[in-house]
Amino acid sequence: MIDKIQMKNNKQCLNHKYYLKIKEKGLKDSFKGVSKMLTSWIVLLLSITLTFGDFIITDEKWTGANGQYVLFKRLTNVLTNETALISYHPGGRIEQLLLRPKRNASESEARLVSVLVGNNGNITAFLENKYYKSCPLIPWANRIANATYTFYGTSYDLPINEPSRNDALHGFLCQQNFTVTLERVSNFGVAVTLTKTFSNQLQNMYPGYPFQFTVNLTFELSAGGLSVFAKVVNLESKNAMPFYMGYHPYFNVQDVGRACIALDTRFGWVELLTQGDLQTGPLIPTGQSIVWTQWDGQHPIGTNASNNNLPNYYDNGYRIFSKAGHFNGYNGRFLPVENRVIDTVGNVTFVLWQDSKRMVFSQLFTGLQEKTGEKGIALEPQSGSTNAYNNGDHLTVLYPGQVFQSRFGFVVE
Ligand SMILES: *[C@@H]1O[C@H](CO)[C@@H](O)[C@H](O)[C@H]1NC(C)=O
Ligand SMILES: *[C@@H]1O[C@H](CO)[C@@H](O)[C@H](O)[C@H]1NC(C)=O
Ligand SMILES: *[C@@H]1O[C@H](CO)[C@@H](O)[C@H](O)[C@H]1NC(C)=O
Ligand SMILES: *[C@@H]1O[C@H](CO)[C@@H](O)[C@H](O)[C@H]1NC(C)=O
Ligand SMILES: *[C@@H]1O[C@H](CO)[C@@H](O)[C@H](O)[C@H]1NC(C)=O
Ligand SMILES: *[C@@H]1O[C@H](CO)[C@@H](O)[C@H](O)[C@H]1NC(C)=O
Ligand SMILES: *[C@@H]1O[C@H](CO)[C@@H](O)[C@H](O)[C@H]1NC(C)=O
Ligand SMILES: *[C@@H]1O[C@H](CO)[C@@H](O)[C@H](O)[C@H]1NC(C)=O
Repeated sequence: MIDKIQMKNNKQCLNHKYYLKIKEKGLKDSFKGVSKMLTSWIVLLLSITLTFGDFIITDEKWTGANGQYVLFKRLTNVLTNETALISYHPGGRIEQLLLRPKRNASESEARLVSVLVGNNGNITAFLENKYYKSCPLIPWANRIANATYTFYGTSYDLPINEPSRNDALHGFLCQQNFTVTLERVSNFGVAVTLTKTFSNQLQNMYPGYPFQFTVNLTFELSAGGLSVFAKVVNLESKNAMPFYMGYHPYFNVQDVGRACIALDTRFGWVELLTQGDLQTGPLIPTGQSIVWTQWDGQHPIGTNASNNNLPNYYDNGYRIFSKAGHFNGYNGRFLPVENRVIDTVGNVTFVLWQDSKRMVFSQLFTGLQEKTGEKGIALEPQSGSTNAYNNGDHLTVLYPGQVFQSRFGFVVE
């Protein structure tokens, strides 16, 4: 492990000093002077209520051959031109997200940054959904080993959707068509709620997951960036269901090899060890982990000279093991985790915040460029471990009528 770390980290992140400065100085909203760092939910709410904006929702549709189509709601701040394109048919994906840096007023006025890698209007790629761009990962995130699990004495077989590794990857929500159940516009923000209910009838499609449940995903654009709220309810009358979730954004960077990752240093992190090669091995956690401090915002991803200088390949999971810093001030609220992807070439930092109560895992995947040529880094918030149905690591057992809620969001610095 140590050798690998040293080999991969021979360069320093160019704007590390700047990054620290930003952290100290805090978030500065360019438009109406909201000047607090996004360090607590209360502050976020405050920034919403203090900020004026003109928000709108519009409909968009992509049409393709054979009558295929994709439906979207676009959330826009017409004062700033910040915008989020949210798909709902099929759904729950952020196809486009343009935000302004919150660093300082001149920067913010000058730039509208494209945060996430999308499909650029390509409906074939969108429906093919090969690399799960901005997919909600429900009712499981990442891999279930051998696509099988046992729950309360019954064993279930899921469809194998990653044959090379013989596993079930990323749940089945992302290809589903949602209903738009709420659209809300105010001076402070704009939100859309997407709902999907899995009834008895639908379950026939998923013999390995015969549980009825409903999912609400709410996307909200405001001065605090784009926030996502997930709410899942078990609709069974008698049966508990196994559950954990994630989300799969790819951050748009100009040079993956020179980009840096900063896992929130107010928390302690471990890397979950897996067996074998990252590209071909099963990627299932072995149960062992090591303390992980490499992603401190100073060490770039790096490139591999024996692989055409492509970015070093990471497909690794990290978990918070110490929450020493997560509980302070602000009326005893839990602070959200703030992880960052630092684009040292585009001079921009993407903040992915996630609630520290539920979303205590992060998966890093740097292989997109090698697969498609697109320069994106996936940093995926997860509420449970890869293979949690089998290893039980932060698995949520949802009893009938019980509710699971989590949240995460995007800000640009
Ligand atoms: C937003 O876009 C419109 C239309 O392209 C443009 O006229 C306007 O100046 C933009 N506003 C800002 C703040 O960039
Ligand atoms: C705003 O950011 C830009 C780009 O990083 C920098 O050149 C400029 O000095 C900053 N302005 C202020 C007032 O801090
Ligand atoms: C759209 O995506 C498909 C599938 O990835 C790809 O084969 C095709 O070349 C893309 N079309 C364009 C115009 O980029
Ligand atoms: C998956 O199945 C293979 C073949 O039966 C077995 O060797 C392997 O241990 C299984 N993986 C896990 C994580 O259980
Ligand atoms: C979503 O709706 C389309 C029709 O636009 C349909 O072809 C597709 O099968 C639906 N998806 C699912 C998973 O039901
Ligand atoms: C989902 O959101 C809609 C719209 O706000 C609401 O009517 C519904 O009750 C919500 N469902 C759950 C389970 O909270
Ligand atoms: C670099 O690429 C080579 C060839 O693909 C591969 O064998 C090796 O494991 C890679 N090294 C690292 C550190 O990823
Ligand atoms: C980033 O900053 C460097 C150094 O200040 C500058 O040379 C470069 O043009 C900037 N890149 C972008 C995309 O703004």
